[in-house]
Amino acid sequence: MQWNEGLNAKNPYLHGLYAPTVEGSGPGRVISGEIPRDLSGAYFRNGPNPTEPPGGMHHWFDGEGMLHGLWFGDGAARYAARYVRSRDFGAEGAARPGIFSQAEEAADRTTVYRDTANTDVIVHNGRLLALWYISGRPVAVDPETLETIAVEDFGGALPKNVSAHSKTCPKTGELIFFDYALYEPTMWLGAVSAENELTHFKAIDLPGPRLPHDMGLTENYAILHDLPVVFTEQGIANRVWRIHVAEQPTRFGVTPRPKDGAGFGETKWFEFPTCYVYHVINAWEEGDEVVMAACKMVDNGLAPNPDYGPYAPMVDVLALRAQPFLWRMNMKTGEGREEQLDDALSEFPAINLGRTGSKTRWSYHVVMDDCDLQRFSALRKYDLSTGSYVQHDFEPGVFGSEPAFAPRDGVGVDADAEDEGYVVTLTTSLETGRSEARIIDARDFAAPPVARVELPGRAPAGFHATWMPAAS
Ligand SMILES: [Fe+2]
Repeated sequence: MQWNEGLNAKNPYLHGLYAPTVEGSGPGRVISGEIPRDLSGAYFRNGPNPTEPPGGMHHWFDGEGMLHGLWFGDGAARYAARYVRSRDFGAEGAARPGIFSQAEEAADRTTVYRDTANTDVIVHNGRLLALWYISGRPVAVDPETLETIAVEDFGGALPKNVSAHSKTCPKTGELIFFDYALYEPTMWLGAVSAENELTHFKAIDLPGPRLPHDMGLTENYAILHDLPVVFTEQGIANRVWRIHVAEQPTRFGVTPRPKDGAGFGETKWFEFPTCYVYHVINAWEEGDEVVMAACKMVDNGLAPNPDYGPYAPMVDVLALRAQPFLWRMNMKTGEGREEQLDDALSEFPAINLGRTGSKTRWSYHVVMDDCDLQRFSALRKYDLSTGSYVQHDFEPGVFGSEPAFAPRDGVGVDADAEDEGYVVTLTTSLETGRSEARIIDARDFAAPPVARVELPGRAPAGFHATWMPAAS
């Protein structure tokens, strides 16, 4: 089957903004403004990029992971795109099912679906880790070349998997990760030192199998998500991807982080009105309270569009709509409180990563285009202390990626300097297929970019991004 034949012709996530691209690299060409001299480091973004036309039903989440890298320094930029050679990349992995397919569990595997590491990218131990949304084997990638170094198991010590949205702690350099199993009532928390040694691993019992997406991290706690999207009984019994929204509260589990030689502590659970959360903005501590800021999903108000044929339900689920909220959890009294920050819709939040786990005022979100596909027509800088925002619009027909915050060279992470730097994103024009790096002054956010840099290749829309300072 070709890209435009049969089922593939009906799948909007194989065409236009989402059409796969090829590996490549080359210099960026400045087309407006100037690349700031005090911008040194790299923006990385992950996303799905099928290597060949799918032969059956294909979910956007099933494409092989491809990393896009934008390196900045001395007023210049270069770009590269490379596949993540994950455990299931290429011919060997092609036999493993995607999420529309019946999955058969293999005794020697810890995942049942194709592990493409296509979802998230984080920095740990001086390298990139590409991570997968339903928890897979992390893939260590060279941050200069985007070459895959290894499928990472921390010297053979990793018992199972590492989920996308596991976090690195800027204070200790540790990777604090979570893992979950599709059909078992358990989540796991793990800690890997800055030197890449697995130091702690703990199982946490749940009332049933769960499908979390993210976690929170503060200086002293990890926050797990027990959310009401679960497998149906039929899904669990037959080990197939059949999920529904259950009538049960949302719970966040606050677990003390390993400290002074002791492992993870006892999890304290807080119940809230039912909701689903894909992405955490940040989490921190205020007195006795652990505070988590995140984007809470709301109904997208759309109905499955029959024009997409069998892909109508997938398209509907991918049209994410969410609002920023705070959840406050008092560790002394056990009380929880939910606060809505704003009713405007936004998602894919990013912060100054040097402040992960510390109280943050600023976050940078994408604005979903008002259509039934997942595409980002603007960025928004939120003031989490007031719920107000400033918006940076792209031109009509141009769509962005999850942004990353790049601190200006030499600026620390104290509260006053939190937004002293640039917001970097990758845009693609639907009309021309041209992609650009856009560098926005974080303190003059609504202004035109300080630089636009045309890339030598087209970057399809994708998932998560990060910033790696040059010195790290
Ligand atoms: Fe995500």
